[in-house]
Amino acid sequence: MSQDVRGVVARVRGAPVEVTTVVVPDPGPGEAVVRVQACGVCHTDLHYREGGITDEFPFLLGHEAAGIVEQVGAGVTDVEPGDFVILNWRAVCGTCRACRRGRPWYCFATHNAARKMTLADGTELSPALGIGAFVEKTLVHAGQCTRVDPAARPAAVGLLGCGVMAGIGAAVNTGGVSRGDSVAVIGCGGVGDGAIAGAALAGATTIIAVDTDPRKLEWARGFGATHTVNARETDPVEAIRELTGGFGADVVIEAVGRPETWKQAFYARDLAGTLVLVGVPTPEMKIPELPLLDVFGRGGALRSSWYGDCLPSRDFPMLTSLYLQGRLDLDAFVTEEIALDQVEEAFARMHRGDVLRSVVVF
Ligand SMILES: NC(=O)c1ccc[n+]([C@@H]2O[C@H](COP(=O)([O-])OP(=O)(O)OC[C@H]3O[C@@H](n4cnc5c(N)ncnc54)[C@H](O)[C@@H]3O)[C@@H](O)[C@H]2O)c1
Ligand SMILES: [Zn+2]
Ligand SMILES: [Zn+2]
Repeated sequence: MSQDVRGVVARVRGAPVEVTTVVVPDPGPGEAVVRVQACGVCHTDLHYREGGITDEFPFLLGHEAAGIVEQVGAGVTDVEPGDFVILNWRAVCGTCRACRRGRPWYCFATHNAARKMTLADGTELSPALGIGAFVEKTLVHAGQCTRVDPAARPAAVGLLGCGVMAGIGAAVNTGGVSRGDSVAVIGCGGVGDGAIAGAALAGATTIIAVDTDPRKLEWARGFGATHTVNARETDPVEAIRELTGGFGADVVIEAVGRPETWKQAFYARDLAGTLVLVGVPTPEMKIPELPLLDVFGRGGALRSSWYGDCLPSRDFPMLTSLYLQGRLDLDAFVTEEIALDQVEEAFARMHRGDVLRSVVVF
């Protein structure tokens, strides 16, 4: 028996989102229906709405969520009704070439639900990142449900489902930040501040936050930035070099997703330093002109980070524990709790830089 619930749908490119009826089927084999308790508004949802990711409208938006498993399909053993879970977009397959080599965070065949959620007229929805969680209940693959300690606040730990995990992982997993490193983070939204928090957890001693918005820089300090640079007033490459003895940072994380900030990150590294691109570019963007000799001569690593190279089963429970112990302030990412019909306003506030995360709570 399918269920009719309310959800946030982007019907056509660039148009405001709308709250409408979503039909959620019973879970098929290996699938689960989750009652969503909280879902954060991520910049990637806006990318979807603008047609910057794919053309497969209509989209069911939302993907940084936590909730309670309500129903499971045949063969599901890892979760059961009543479990508190964070939804993930990396349900690893266990059998692709990456999984077989013991690097499942690169899994090339992650699972999503095979059954489709639809509009009331039967039109199939494309769930954002294979999740779709601005909706009272959602259908996912059971592997997309990661059980964590139910003592945690859903609005806070749900953010581990995308942006905050992407940021923490960009620093800790992809960037390999460790004790004593110098780190610079360009772009201090939810993702960039996740990277700052991750760098602090890993023991970086210098953490430089770069943004164009003074409010963002203030918030970045709260997550562990030791220095801040306003890129509107100061050249960030020069500032980062100055703050690192003239050399540049060991790891520079780009959390904006633009060619010019990527280039700043490239030159703000120390020799043999690491650049991590976690911001998502749009299809028309190109790497700005860069002498190949600089790529060679400066050495180091140029990496990109999908979902912070995380493994949900390993990282979500661990980060939830750190949160519950007071060592990772996930509450500070939640600027406001909003209702389902306020997502469009939340996009505008995100655009203006008024929020780190607006979180829809049900
Ligand atoms: N790789 C992944 O797995 C992953 C996951 C989630 C989000 N993302 C991407 O990460 C990026 C950031 O997401 P977010 O939710 O934090 O967005 P956000 O809009 O909250 O944050 C972006 C920040 O960049 C700052 N900024 C803009 N232009 C700048 C410039 N020239 N110099 C310095 N700072 C500048 C803004 O002021 C803002 O604080 C987006 O591209 C998003 O799609 C990637
Ligand atoms: Zn795999
Ligand atoms: Zn996201």
